[in-house]
Amino acid sequence: MSTEVRKTDRGPAGAAADADGTVLEASGVTLRFGGLTSLDDIGLRMRRGEVLAVIGPNGAGKTSLFNSLTGAYVPQEGRIVFRPRAGGEHSLLGRKPHVVSRLGLARTFQNIRLFGALTALENVKIAAETRLTAGPVSVMLGLPNARRAERASDRRAHEVLSFVGLLDRINELAGSLSYGDQRRLEIARALATDPEVLLLDEPAAGTNPTEKLELEELIRRINTELGVSVLLIEHDMRLVMSVADRVMVLNFGRRIAEGSPSEVQRDPAVIEAYLGAAAEDEKAAVAEVVAEAEAGHGTGADDGTGTGGSGERARDGEERE
Ligand SMILES: Nc1ncnc2c1ncn2[C@@H]1O[C@H](COP(=O)(O)OP(=O)(O)OP(=O)(O)O)[C@@H](O)[C@H]1O
Ligand SMILES: [Mg+2]
Repeated sequence: MSTEVRKTDRGPAGAAADADGTVLEASGVTLRFGGLTSLDDIGLRMRRGEVLAVIGPNGAGKTSLFNSLTGAYVPQEGRIVFRPRAGGEHSLLGRKPHVVSRLGLARTFQNIRLFGALTALENVKIAAETRLTAGPVSVMLGLPNARRAERASDRRAHEVLSFVGLLDRINELAGSLSYGDQRRLEIARALATDPEVLLLDEPAAGTNPTEKLELEELIRRINTELGVSVLLIEHDMRLVMSVADRVMVLNFGRRIAEGSPSEVQRDPAVIEAYLGAAAEDEKAAVAEVVAEAEAGHGTGADDGTGTGGSGERARDGEERE
């Protein structure tokens, strides 16, 4: 089927260098801004094929971690290693973002970064072209290899737009799409680079409940159908609990917990971190969710206030890179 998006084929899974199934590994990552330590000795081990969520109150260091993994920030200390399917390993520390992207890590941003005046298709084609490049001279002269590259990126863009369910919107301007569609378009753009690891920074922020459910389904399909490992920052606890295999919790730049969604939800340090960050009127909501979790009623947080309640405060325009 022409619209099918296939798993990336960079060699056999389980190559020798990949014996323990680790796709991304970081240790001792420390990032400082002047006197502020945004990441303090952070370690991370991501297994190939898993959905790993990163949660924590506002300012905990979640986006700083993504920025450090993808080359937007250069931590002063630490080690970050990516192990592609094809084997071998690449240090990511201090690599430029476009290099990290070519290696196989793609991301979306907390604050949507699309070209609003370009169509959905054009936005995705630009990303696809980063993989399927013909040189600038070939493009200018319209040489056959440039035309081939153009056709290939067009095809790739159609594939991923179909995968995320935006095929009927490809000619609309990105800026005129609904918020949920813009979030999906950002994901399509990231997928167009054919990543092994996809980093999603609050993909559900600003979306409505229906869009959140669609997004949940999309993340699951990206993981299971495309075999892409997903690192997910998200404040919506219902979404986290339903799609994540494991959860890592940050607070003030430190990793304070890690485990299965239900383990983390019951962890006293995690509850304390969120209670500490919550406004008075939110504490009652948090306490209610904890009590529900303790009583064994599902995952709790079904109303989206959850332990992430404090995180739902407006954060637009806050990202600094
Ligand atoms: N470029 C920067 N310059 C100065 N301080 C920064 C910079 N980037 C991040 N920080 C600081 O690092 C800390 C962590 O910020 P970060 O954006 O990583 O938090 P976050 O967990 O993503 O929060 P949120 O949930 O609000 O998005 C904050 O104190 C923030 O002010
Ligand atoms: Mg953030």
